[in-house]
Amino acid sequence: MNVTVFGTGYVGLVQGAILADVGHHVMCVDVDADKIERLKQGIIPIYEPGLEPLVKENYAAGRLDFTTDAAEGVKHGDIQFIAVGTPPDEDGSADLKYVLVVAETIAQHMERHRIVVDKSTVPVGTADKVRIRMQEVLASRGREDLTFDVVSNPEFLKEGSAVADCQKPDRIIIGTESEDSVDAMRELYTPFNRNHDKVMVMDVRSAELTKYAANCMLATKISFMNEIANLAERLGADVEMVRQGIGSDPRIGYHFIYPGVGYGGSCFPKDVQALIRTAGDIDFDAKVLKAVEARNAEQKTTLFQKVRAHFGDELAGKTFAVWGLAFKPNTDDMREAPSRVLMEALWEAGAKVQAYDPEAMEEAQRLYGTRDELTLCGTKETALRGADALVIVTEWQSFRAPDFELIKQQLSEPTIFDGRNMFDPRRMAKKGFTYYSVGRNANR
Ligand SMILES: NC(=O)c1ccc[n+]([C@@H]2O[C@H](COP(=O)([O-])OP(=O)(O)OC[C@H]3O[C@@H](n4cnc5c(N)ncnc54)[C@H](O)[C@@H]3O)[C@@H](O)[C@H]2O)c1
Repeated sequence: MNVTVFGTGYVGLVQGAILADVGHHVMCVDVDADKIERLKQGIIPIYEPGLEPLVKENYAAGRLDFTTDAAEGVKHGDIQFIAVGTPPDEDGSADLKYVLVVAETIAQHMERHRIVVDKSTVPVGTADKVRIRMQEVLASRGREDLTFDVVSNPEFLKEGSAVADCQKPDRIIIGTESEDSVDAMRELYTPFNRNHDKVMVMDVRSAELTKYAANCMLATKISFMNEIANLAERLGADVEMVRQGIGSDPRIGYHFIYPGVGYGGSCFPKDVQALIRTAGDIDFDAKVLKAVEARNAEQKTTLFQKVRAHFGDELAGKTFAVWGLAFKPNTDDMREAPSRVLMEALWEAGAKVQAYDPEAMEEAQRLYGTRDELTLCGTKETALRGADALVIVTEWQSFRAPDFELIKQQLSEPTIFDGRNMFDPRRMAKKGFTYYSVGRNANR
């Protein structure tokens, strides 16, 4: 099938690549000319395991193409995906301007029936807005004869395993009232729907809400566990024991109950905020979601609070090694990352940071490259040199078995603040470290 994808970010590029890989002809459109040029040269703008070969091979095979020419994109695809960003507006609601610009663009250039698919995460009612905007543009062209359908098909991929998630989706949600569109979407996704039927057809509004409900549920699990961790810390319990104790209950499960330094990334924070805002618009007080957000905001300060509790207010002139900048492992994404809250608080207190991340160094350079208080280091070991303590923010696999003797040698005092509970506190004490983690430090 001929498919066009507007937006070549984490969602659009991965979606485009996996659809091309099964034989569809995919045209990816982006307004970022530099990105499109780099993609044509095989330079992938984001880090996502498995993505680079997929893009290169399918581009070389002629099944995947990139353009900034929206008219060419609209002409190409019977199915037009909207996969552009929906960042938070000033009031926390999802900003739909990019989505609606794409809707206008499609209506501006279409000459035949088009299925317009909202892949971006958009509030309930957005498909109606897209439809109305397209109808207005078609009317202004005097082309009310042209038909289209707007389908909601939210994306559930996780950054860090986006390719695998798209190739083996848990479910494929299709929100539309049109049987023809359901048929077309089923055909499109046939290669990913082989083992058992993963397609769930529903009305558009339910599809739109499903995406928010999923992300908000996961954010709730994380914030709930962080709350229990804070309690454990104060009550003399060990949250890791509690985690295993409750995770063994199949009604709860082990996923997403790791205590830590709060959720970040481009999705959970903005989606929780947006659903609170959607609820507010209809005078509904989303009490649980507000609590989730408040817990998370506080949790992001937990590492800094522990650092300050240890060193007192004398942080000016101190240097901290920071391991992990991305909001989670296997991505270079630093949007809303807890590392940013930590580093900014350290800088505010007059401290310096020597940071290392396996993938997010370029992004850190882009965000903070001009700051003298930050040294970006080529390895995790060089980040330690002469630092007063080590702070671990992201649980990268390569941090799990470090050379503890070297850490001791390099730090001016053997102190580790671990935001991800990567090590056993008893063993760390035996090794001679002052070791702080989350929800397990009752005896300190
Ligand atoms: N990143 C994730 O893990 C994830 C997962 C599921 C859903 N989502 C949702 O998918 C959507 C996209 O997220 P993302 O992380 O891929 O965003 P992103 O910011 O990485 O990429 C968006 C892209 O859209 C391009 N763009 C903007 N306006 C355009 C236009 N008019 N025409 C063509 N391209 C345009 C931008 O230049 C950018 O390259 C969001 O709504 C997000 O909430 C994201």
